[in-house]
Amino acid sequence: MRYASISDRLDGLGSHKWAVHVAGRQRAHAGEELIFLSIGEPDLPPPAAVLEQAAASLFAGRTRYADGQGEPVARRAIAGHLSRRSGLDVDQHQIVYTAGTQQGLFVVMATLVEAGDEVVVPDPYYATYESVVASTGASFVPVPTLPEDDFHLRPEALEAAITPRTRVLLLNTPSNPTGAVLSPDEIDAIGEVCERHDLWIVCDEVYADLTFEAHFCSPFDRPQLRHRAISVASISKSHALPGFRAGWAACPPEVTPRVTAVAEAMNFGSQPFIADAVAVALNQEHAEVVTMKRTFHERASAMVRALAGSEAVKVHMPEGGMFVMADIRPTGLSGEEFAWKLLDERHVVVMPGESFGSRGAGHIRLALTVDTDAMDEACHRIRSLAEELHAAR
Ligand SMILES: Cc1ncc(COP(=O)(O)O)c(C=O)c1O
Repeated sequence: MRYASISDRLDGLGSHKWAVHVAGRQRAHAGEELIFLSIGEPDLPPPAAVLEQAAASLFAGRTRYADGQGEPVARRAIAGHLSRRSGLDVDQHQIVYTAGTQQGLFVVMATLVEAGDEVVVPDPYYATYESVVASTGASFVPVPTLPEDDFHLRPEALEAAITPRTRVLLLNTPSNPTGAVLSPDEIDAIGEVCERHDLWIVCDEVYADLTFEAHFCSPFDRPQLRHRAISVASISKSHALPGFRAGWAACPPEVTPRVTAVAEAMNFGSQPFIADAVAVALNQEHAEVVTMKRTFHERASAMVRALAGSEAVKVHMPEGGMFVMADIRPTGLSGEEFAWKLLDERHVVVMPGESFGSRGAGHIRLALTVDTDAMDEACHRIRSLAEELHAAR
């Protein structure tokens, strides 16, 4: 039997990146006690008002087919949210509702690129980006970012990676895994390079509401970049509702019908009762959202404090998001080797930096998704393993 080439291109780009996490899950299921710092699933409760709306709409019969571009009630709320954020007008017709950021990235990429095109992506990058780009047939071109720049993309590095085939810059701010938050000046300088080379900027903003001291900035919010910028996000992280699969792509007006056509080919519409809940999520302030942002900030500071001063493991304070990257190169192990050893010997589950690109090598990524006691204990175990390995070298 024959298969389409997409399945060859995606072979090996999927779940093996989560192998340590999957093994941890199996061991936990078999009764082992483990501390999970592996995936970015908020542990704090979602806003009660959003859940109440979903339940009320469910019982009110909002269970029929939805508009293919997304229910107007949700698109209006998303457009309102983005307008308030930027101070610029965003119209509901610019919004395509998607099943989370992940589907948003997929439909946008499928709309913009194909075989023969190149997509440039700052490295380290989120673990699914390679497969999203590969699914279109386009080539994935990593652009190195460096720990000494706090993993911020330099315009010169971007420029050096661009060829006549480059069509899209795929950005992610705040970044998973690095926690880098690009400033308005950086966005403008990067945007200027994209302008010169006529590139689309697709920006994954799923952590936009989780910045600490840094101020969030999107290319979609910059007047001079709006015609080439697409903002993709969801309420998965901001409202602790990843299971709702509720996200969006906000596009320049002429792009929206094309993205909508791809989204309709894929799943023609979403769940109206969830769309109503998204409207409540974005139209109102929620104490739970404020608490979550404060809690992730506090946990990031606590984790950095717990690992500070070690010769064997080096961390720096993330500017946003839900993760801390720890450099374990002084131990002499790769991120992957360290993560397996940590699981086997200290019962802590983390993601190897290699799952996020070659620039993540020699690092582990720690999620801030457990309470402070568990986090302190995990940091103690990480530190003691790293220091033992370092001393033995
Ligand atoms: C950077 C990044 N983009 C996208 C996603 C997927 O988000 P969603 O649940 O909105 O599909 C995640 C989830 O961890 C993420 O970290």
